[in-house]
Amino acid sequence: MQEILKLVDVSKAYGSLTVTDHLSLSVREGEALGVIGPNGAGKSTLFNIIAGGVKPDAGEVHYSGIEVTSSRAPRRCRMGIGRSYQIPHPFVGMTVYENLLVGAAFGEDMPREEGFQHAANVLEQTGLIDKANVRAGTLTLLERKRLEMARALATRPRLLLLDEIAGGLTEHECHELVETIQDIRKSGVSIIWIEHIVHALLAVVDRLIVINFGKKIAEGDPHEVMKSTEVQQIYMGLEGDG
Ligand SMILES: Nc1ncnc2c1ncn2[C@@H]1O[C@H](COP(=O)(O)OP(=O)(O)O)[C@@H](O)[C@H]1O
Ligand SMILES: [Mg+2]
Repeated sequence: MQEILKLVDVSKAYGSLTVTDHLSLSVREGEALGVIGPNGAGKSTLFNIIAGGVKPDAGEVHYSGIEVTSSRAPRRCRMGIGRSYQIPHPFVGMTVYENLLVGAAFGEDMPREEGFQHAANVLEQTGLIDKANVRAGTLTLLERKRLEMARALATRPRLLLLDEIAGGLTEHECHELVETIQDIRKSGVSIIWIEHIVHALLAVVDRLIVINFGKKIAEGDPHEVMKSTEVQQIYMGLEGDG
C-alpha cells in the first residue's frame, strides 16, 4: 500500500528546547496511526509540522509523494491535510454550519453547491445537525470538540489529524466518537490520532507510536506497544488524564 505521509529525520527546537528530535515516521494510505506520549512530549508540534503551521529546522515532510516541507498550511489543506486543534478555536460569531462552509471553502476545490451539500453531510456525520444554526460561541466544550473534527472534515481531507478530541467526554460520548472516527476511517481517509484516552485509541488505530521528549521511543502493534515496559513506566496512571 502507498504512503500518504512520510517524515524524514525531522527536528524542531524552540530556543534551547528540542521539541522534535530526529523523528521519522510514515503513514500508509487508509491507515489509522495512534500517537501517545506525556504532556509536553511534542505531539501537537508534530501536527504543526505535518499541517504546515511550523517549519522544521531540519528534515523533510512528504505528502502523497510530494515534498511539502516548505509549503504553507493553506496549500497543505487544499492538498488534503485536515487537522483539529487540541484547544478548539471555532469562529465564535458564526453558526456551526457557517464554520463548516469556511472549512469547505479552504479545502479541496469543489463547486459551491457541492460545498454546501458536503458541509451538511459533515453535520450529519459528526452529530451536529441539531446545532447547525447555533452560534459556535454558545457551544459546550464537548460540542466544540465535535465542531473541531467537523471543520477538519469539511475540508475533505485525505489525511485527518485529530489532536486529543476525546478528553473530557463521558464514556458514552467517547464510544460515539470512536464510532464516528471508525466510519471516517472506513470512508478511506487516513488518520493520525493523538489521544490520552488509550482505550478509545486502541479501538481505532492499526499502529501506535510513542513520543517522549520529541523522540519516537516505540512503534508497532498497539497492544504490543502498550505492553512494553518502557511505555508502561511512562504511562502509569496516565489513562483518563485528559
Ligand atoms: N511556539 C512555541 N514556542 C515555544 N515553545 C513551544 C511552542 N510550541 C510548543 N512549545 C513547547 O514545546 C513542548 C512540546 O509542546 P507540544 O508539542 O504542545 O507537546 P504535547 O502536544 O505533546 O503536549 C512544550 O514544552 C511546549 O511548551
Ligand atoms: Mg498537545
